[in-house]
Amino acid sequence: MTVLEVIHRSTEFLTAKGVRSPRLQIELLLAHVLEVPRLKLYLDFDRVLKERELETLRELVRRRGAREPLQRIVGSTSFCGLEFTLDREVLIPRPESELLAERAWTLLEALGEASPCVLDFGTGSGCLGVTVAAHCPRARVYALDVSAAALAVARENAGRHGVLNQLEFWQGDGFGAVPAGMRFDVVLSNPPYIPTAEIATLEPEVRDHDPHLALDGGPDGLTVIRRLAAEAPPFLRPQGRLLLEFGDGQATAVQSHFEGVGWRIESIECDYHAKPRILVACRLG
Ligand SMILES: C[S@@+](CC[C@H](N)C(=O)[O-])C[C@H]1O[C@@H](n2cnc3c(N)ncnc32)[C@H](O)[C@@H]1O
Repeated sequence: MTVLEVIHRSTEFLTAKGVRSPRLQIELLLAHVLEVPRLKLYLDFDRVLKERELETLRELVRRRGAREPLQRIVGSTSFCGLEFTLDREVLIPRPESELLAERAWTLLEALGEASPCVLDFGTGSGCLGVTVAAHCPRARVYALDVSAAALAVARENAGRHGVLNQLEFWQGDGFGAVPAGMRFDVVLSNPPYIPTAEIATLEPEVRDHDPHLALDGGPDGLTVIRRLAAEAPPFLRPQGRLLLEFGDGQATAVQSHFEGVGWRIESIECDYHAKPRILVACRLG
C-alpha cells in the first residue's frame, strides 16, 4: 500500500470513529512511524510502505480510532516551541496555556529582580515552569504537584530542556507543601477547573485519558481556584503577582471572588479565541 492509499483509508476509518481533523491525525501518525517531517509525506505519496511499517501504523491508528489522543500515542507534545514528554499521569499541555507561560516570563523580565522566585502550582508535565525557566535563566522555579508521578515527568522535562539546576520539586496538597517563609515574585497556576459533573460530557480524548486529578475542580469548578485565592497571599512578595488560568465562562465568578477576598485585579486576558481565560492579580495595599 502506498503512502497516499494509507492516508485515504485511514482518514475514512478515523472519520467513522468521530475523530476530529482525521486527515491531519493520520498524517502525523504516519510521519511519526516513518520518522520524517509531515510535509515530507507530500513528496512521497507513491512510496510503498513496508509490512513492518504498516503493522506499526495499524496499531497506532486503532488506538487513535479508540479516541486515545495523538499526543499520548506519540508520547510528547510541543509547548512554546519545546517538546514535552508525556505519560498517562499528566495533562496534555493546551495551546492556551502557552499564553500563561508567556505572560509569566514577560512579567519576570519587567520585574528586574536579580533572582526572581516562581511557584508553578500544579505543575503536571512541568510545561509552565520549565518554559519560564528556559526563558528566564535568572529565575528559580518551584514546581509543586500533589501527584508524585506527575513530578517525575516534570523532572524529566526539566532535564530534557537543560533547566534542572533552576528547578526544585515539591510534592503535596496545595500550599501545605510550601516551606513556611518562602516568598514568590510570581505564583503561576493552571489548576483543575472543570466542574465535576461536566467531566462525563467531555470528548473521550479528555474524559478517558487526561488524569481526573488534573481536571476536576469540584462541584462548580472553582474549588482549587478559591484555595489559591485564600492560601497564596502570605507566600507573595509585596510586588508579587498571581497568574491564573481559568475555564471558559468562569471569568465573572473568578474576578468577583478574588476582589471579595482582598485582591486587586490587574488584568483579565483572553485566549486565541478572544475568551477571557487568564487572571493577573496582586494583593491590595
Ligand atoms: C490542569 S493540570 C495543569 C498541568 C500543567 N501545569 C499544565 O498547564 O498543563 C493541574 C495540575 O494540578 C495538580 N493538582 C491538583 N490538585 C492539586 C493540589 N491540591 N495541590 C497541588 N497540585 C494539585 C494536578 O495533579 C495537575 O497536575
